[in-house]
Amino acid sequence: MAQQIQYRTLGGPEVLEFVTVPTPVAPHGGVVVETRAIGVNPIDVKLRSGLRPSPPITAPRVPGSDAAGVIVSVAETGAGADAGADAGAWTVGDEVIVRDAAGAYRTHVPASAAQLVAKPAAVGWNEAAGIGIPVGTAYQALRSLGVDAGQTLLVHGGSGAVGQAAIQFARDRGAAAVATASARNLDRLRELGAIAVEYGEGLLERVQDAAPDGIDRVLDAAGTDEALDVSFALVPDRSHIGTIVVGAKADALGIRAWMGGSPHPLTDEEQAWRREAYGVAADLIAAGRFEVEIAAVYPLAEAAAAQRALASGSLRGKLILDPRA
Ligand SMILES: NC(=O)c1ccc[n+]([C@@H]2O[C@H](COP(=O)([O-])OP(=O)(O)OC[C@H]3O[C@@H](n4cnc5c(N)ncnc54)[C@H](OP(=O)(O)O)[C@@H]3O)[C@@H](O)[C@H]2O)c1
Repeated sequence: MAQQIQYRTLGGPEVLEFVTVPTPVAPHGGVVVETRAIGVNPIDVKLRSGLRPSPPITAPRVPGSDAAGVIVSVAETGAGADAGADAGAWTVGDEVIVRDAAGAYRTHVPASAAQLVAKPAAVGWNEAAGIGIPVGTAYQALRSLGVDAGQTLLVHGGSGAVGQAAIQFARDRGAAAVATASARNLDRLRELGAIAVEYGEGLLERVQDAAPDGIDRVLDAAGTDEALDVSFALVPDRSHIGTIVVGAKADALGIRAWMGGSPHPLTDEEQAWRREAYGVAADLIAAGRFEVEIAAVYPLAEAAAAQRALASGSLRGKLILDPRA
């Protein structure tokens, strides 16, 4: 048998149920991954609460997109219609990262071969599960913005999971990063190599002091009016400003947006960058050149507490669920 977190109605964290279900079978051409760590993301909370619209719930919905674990079964493949739909080179025992899972808060995640990325031995389970959405988003956003050596990137929300990844990818590309956070998190930004600036009143002047030669590109991972207004004052070309939070109003503002409520789906190239990020980040982590900060690890059964902690904003870094705790 397997365990999972599910919900049957939108609402607060109390709608999350911990249930026992039959162990899933590998989907056609895919595998089942026994999870070792599961990433909790803001979108999980937004979807569960209804803050982000989603199709009507017609069957219990398992939250989550990001997990890491061990392949425990591989679908049988046959001849004829099944040819070419096998699970590729994946075999039982392989340690993998699962991306875009159709529900990751569970002990056993069914996945297609295309959703798997090899986990290097040097990358821990929690870090592997923490790459996921935030690292993919940061990598794609920087590629989309064309962040390059010699430029200065402003990151709003630099202490968050996306922001921390963006700072490190900018550094890796030879760009400087000015990043915003609350006072308690400024040291973390400096540890990552960013010029740290506290958000709040006077933000524009503080960023101007931090970057006297100007800002070339902006990644908004905060979504506040302050972040947007400061960005407009600093960067006249709005195509050099991108948001991942307030996508719904990006067209009206003339800025770029990737999901976060944007009516425009990611392009094929943007989706490819999000996929590429996993391998790039895993290799950088293994080489000691990239960190996924872990805020806390909760037992899978306590997913509601993990989501409450995420929504409170009181912790910094990734929240992880441990299915074996
Ligand atoms: N569009 C996409 O594809 C996509 C993908 C991933 C995430 N997102 C969205 O991007 C946002 C960030 O995600 P995350 O995973 O990085 O979240 P997170 O780890 O919870 O980080 C939240 C960040 O927001 C900052 N923040 C809070 N209040 C702020 C304010 N008033 N002004 C400026 N910054 C403020 C926090 O800074 P302090 O803690 O220092 O206050 C922290 O850096 C979320 O809204 C998430 O849903 C979108």
